[in-house]
Amino acid sequence: SPIPTPANEPVRAYAPGSPERARLEAELDRQLGAQIEVPLVINGEQLRTGTTQTMVMPHDHGHVTGTCHQAGEAEVAKALQAAKDAAPGWAAMPWEDRAAIFLRAARLLQDEFRDRLNASTMLGQSKTCHQAEIDAACELVDFFRFNVAYVERMYAEQPQSPGSAVWNRLEYRPLDGFVFAVTPFNFTSIAANLCAAPAMLGNTVIWKPAPTALLSSHYLMELFAAAGLPPGVINFIPGPAAQVGAQVMGDPDLAGVHFTGSTATFKLLWKQAADNLDRYRSYPRIVGETGGKDFVVAHPSADLERLAPALLRGAFEYQGQKCSAASRAYIPESLWPQLRERLVAGMEAMKMGDPRDFSNFLGAVIDDRAYAKHAAAIAEAKAAVGGAVTEILGGECDDAKGYFVRPTVIVTTDPRYATMVEELFGPILTVFVYPDAEFGPILETCDQSTPYALTGAIFAEDRKAVVQAVEGLRFAAGNFYINDKPTGAVVGQQPFGGSRASGTNDKAGSMWNLIRWASPRTIKENL
Ligand code: ALA
Repeated sequence: SPIPTPANEPVRAYAPGSPERARLEAELDRQLGAQIEVPLVINGEQLRTGTTQTMVMPHDHGHVTGTCHQAGEAEVAKALQAAKDAAPGWAAMPWEDRAAIFLRAARLLQDEFRDRLNASTMLGQSKTCHQAEIDAACELVDFFRFNVAYVERMYAEQPQSPGSAVWNRLEYRPLDGFVFAVTPFNFTSIAANLCAAPAMLGNTVIWKPAPTALLSSHYLMELFAAAGLPPGVINFIPGPAAQVGAQVMGDPDLAGVHFTGSTATFKLLWKQAADNLDRYRSYPRIVGETGGKDFVVAHPSADLERLAPALLRGAFEYQGQKCSAASRAYIPESLWPQLRERLVAGMEAMKMGDPRDFSNFLGAVIDDRAYAKHAAAIAEAKAAVGGAVTEILGGECDDAKGYFVRPTVIVTTDPRYATMVEELFGPILTVFVYPDAEFGPILETCDQSTPYALTGAIFAEDRKAVVQAVEGLRFAAGNFYINDKPTGAVVGQQPFGGSRASGTNDKAGSMWNLIRWASPRTIKENL
């Protein structure tokens, strides 16, 4: 019988004094004291190479949480072989048996694994409890459940067979080779889904995790194993990106790449695919979600009660480290003074610090490189005050204990000022204040001033302005929000992804993504 239509996993509150809070706190303490040693996992076997990377916490970089073994050339070769060896058995498994594994992973994540995934995401990636819960618990349960339901629908899709003499059918084969999953630090659920989605369709996977999200990646591998995923289906090889990437991309059996990360890395993967094209058996499916310079445009009719909180949350939740985060805003002159006041009050009220203090709204940015980039952008903006920059709200940085960057708003007179057009991936929002009468031209500026097209939002109570923005910004965002923040897409509700320099727009959490991992065979049979 068909899988019931899934419902989104409810977000738990972890209220003070609640049993769920106590359990999560105990798990945080356990992980903090454990000095976890993360092995490679190849063909279901844990492998320790002895070459290790230290894992630290972004909000307390002096505290080592453990080490992670690193793959060298021999281990990458071993993982490639494991993925190839496991492929026939996994592809031959009845689809229902594969699906049951991912539904079981969802079930385990609802209870037994929830705290492990949330705690490791909080400690390793500096997410607050709420940000971890909506990512590592809820979004991932949703990915597993909704994707299984989508695959089931996809498999049911069959061509016509007119008359009684012919039977046409589509066989949804996996790709003819393995899939390379290269995953980001900022969403534990995205990392898992980049592996799970191709695997659901019967593909085997080589997984190169982000070096800044190893703790949660480790628990994801434990979750997959506990759910009954056979050995060799997902092979976990943390290691030096350039070396692992070049070796995997050069393998003749590469049939797909599932990527979330920077635009530069994605372009490199495309170039490597082009260089290796004559070696591959198939044209690889290259699916990626990359950078963004996500916008909020306010019309003079915008409702400040909706606009101000949306900007604060859209720009600063998870320290702005969401590919969907609002990082540039176009605000009409008439609204700016009042909006400015609300932004200042909202930013000052945002508590920042160790996510183990549940009252903190913000943690630290992911690492020293991110910190240096944000600190430099803020320093440059400070030097530009009086020129292209009118003022800076916030702007304090401190990396003595953790990589802390306070929520910052840079106000510029130049719609093409550096931080207005270049991706920073941090808690920095740049605002351009425009004359109220220039709403039409500002839409064009918004559309034309960056190469990206991931998310964006229009705030307007005037319906005509909404329509004008929907039309004028048609290709400026893959996820477009009306009177809402541009972050927080929910699986099953807002399929997620962008185009232009932001990716291939094969919407995560949807049939449009899953279909990329199948290589359908048309069979015509004369009866
Ligand atoms: N899917 C995440 C969001 O929409 C990135 O914020």
